Amino acid sequence: MSENFVVTATAPVNIATIKYWGKKDEKLIIPVNDSISATLSSDYMCAKTTIAISPNFEKDQIWLNGIEESIENPRLLNCIRNIKNKAKIGTDKLKWKIHICSENNFPTAAGLASSSAGYACLVYALSHIYNVKENISDIARQGSGSACRSIYGGFVQWYTGIKNDGSDSIALQLAPASHWPEMRVIILVVNDKQKKTSSTIGMQRTVETSKLLHYRVKYCVQGHIDKMIQAIKNKNFDLFAEITMRDSNQFHAVCLDTYPPAIYMNDTSHAIASFVHEYNAAANSYKVAYTFDAGPNACLFTLEKNVPALLYTITKVFPTSGSVKDYITGIPINIENKSINA
Ligand code: ADP
Ligand code: DP6
Ligand code: CO
Repeated sequence: MSENFVVTATAPVNIATIKYWGKKDEKLIIPVNDSISATLSSDYMCAKTTIAISPNFEKDQIWLNGIEESIENPRLLNCIRNIKNKAKIGTDKLKWKIHICSENNFPTAAGLASSSAGYACLVYALSHIYNVKENISDIARQGSGSACRSIYGGFVQWYTGIKNDGSDSIALQLAPASHWPEMRVIILVVNDKQKKTSSTIGMQRTVETSKLLHYRVKYCVQGHIDKMIQAIKNKNFDLFAEITMRDSNQFHAVCLDTYPPAIYMNDTSHAIASFVHEYNAAANSYKVAYTFDAGPNACLFTLEKNVPALLYTITKVFPTSGSVKDYITGIPINIENKSINA
């Protein structure tokens, strides 16, 4: 039996092209619809988590980006408990206290999917400490819904599932990164500050107040999912781009239909979206697609051959102001298959 008393893992973020927004079970984190994402290379945006257990630790503790946070976070406790329930280490060691130290090398809680990398990394590192070999997507989901997708690389689908206990609400890889090696993501950081309304609170309010969400879930998302799968399988960038942008727009429309509204995109975000439509119109084809998570920052999908011209134009249209509040960076990031490392 392998026993590790300290483990360090890294996990990348994933960016959804078909958005998860709304839960049918708050505690188990079961979504109202399926979602699809791409897992990015961990070279640029990843969580790094070190976990240690020791008979000398007095209490369980967690530090996030160098600041101690309360361990009494129900989601965190759920993840630890679920992993410990499957642990294959000596019972004495199960009683040892745990220290968790995690940091992100990109803005946390700013709408760049930090919770997806953060909880995927945490649960993966826990699984190594406690020698858990089973699939951990179900457990990562209970940390943050989007985290279940970061367990896999490439293009990933998270299935709503039909069971009440959430055991079939898991992510699976649709296609490895090598299937579409030309695909690139460029992140434009518009604002790296923590958002006012977390994803959790925002989507809770949407489920409670938005009729448009029910329309989206009943009539639209499955069509988007089917077309996205087709686009990925056939490497059809035109279809991929159109559905990605339509789904992002519908997600933000649903946020606006929430009462009081959850407003995540700002003027710069809207300017980027307009720019993308103009850029594609001028080329008479889809060169680039935007998607925005619950924050103002843009994620642009494009193909490798388009990157130089696109980046050149972006730096001219949206020059870096240099201030932390409103700046634009653009690095072409690969979709990666490796996903998590420990
Ligand atoms: P984001 O858009 O960045 O995913 P969320 O509102 O969904 O923002 O989630 C942010 C929360 O996720 C943080 O406040 C923290 O609780 C958790 N989180 C982010 N990164 C990590 C990490 N590396 N380790 C543990 N928890 C994390
Ligand atoms: C807009 O997974 O952060 O990024 O499950 O409450 O932790 P919780 O929410 P979270 O929501 C992500 C929402 C999104 C879309 C997506 O990633 O699919
Ligand atoms: Co999140």
